[in-house]
Amino acid sequence: MIAASRFLFVVGLLPLAWLTYAAWQDLLGANPIERAIRFCGDWALWWLLLTLSVRPLRRVPGLTELIRVRRMLGLFSFFYATLHVMGYVALDRYFDWESTVRDLLKHPYITVGALSFLLLLPLAITSTHGYMKRLGRYWGRLHRLVYISAAFAVVHYWLMVKADHLQPALHGVVLTMLLVWRIPAWKITMRNKTPPF
Ligand code: HEM
Repeated sequence: MIAASRFLFVVGLLPLAWLTYAAWQDLLGANPIERAIRFCGDWALWWLLLTLSVRPLRRVPGLTELIRVRRMLGLFSFFYATLHVMGYVALDRYFDWESTVRDLLKHPYITVGALSFLLLLPLAITSTHGYMKRLGRYWGRLHRLVYISAAFAVVHYWLMVKADHLQPALHGVVLTMLLVWRIPAWKITMRNKTPPF
């Protein structure tokens, strides 16, 4: 399992390595800043959806141990989301906080993206074993926020796109399937009043 974790750690850094190489080699096209911000946003969402896929996937024979790397998948989502937000604040807004706040209030897609990121923040902070122990059954409840954060991320993507909504719609379909899959387990949890983890 340690070997698998190390492998996943390296795989998780590959998109960043590619982005660095592409920026260095001038491969990011006419608008490299927009391309880099979008690239990190895509990866933040993909890692998030992959994190949520762990539960159904671990039912597949041979993938039961996947649960052990779920935390790392979630943290990679947070990592790329942070790069995405930092890219926007530093390279698009030049750390002009007034214009950032104006943008946040003016464009609903930015507002929703910020909500998605704000929800990821406490999840990343409390992802340690220490917090898991300290929060006990509340940890599972808190971490269900990941579904809301993912929903905000998909809406953020949908609102951002002006014409062809196919890509955000496909992400929405995947998220809906993952949510529907969890409903029976949540129903049992609510009935027994015991946490799902
Ligand atoms: C404060 C929080 C956020 C801000 C300010 C923000 C800002 C942006 C901006 C400005 C774009 C468009 C880039 C451009 O066209 O120039 C964008 C696109 C996107 N963002 Fe965010 N975002 C935030 C949070 C998030 C989060 C948390 C996620 C995912 C978990 C995310 C995923 C995406 C995706 C998937 C796209 C579309 C990428 C594409 O077109 O391929 N964003 N965001």
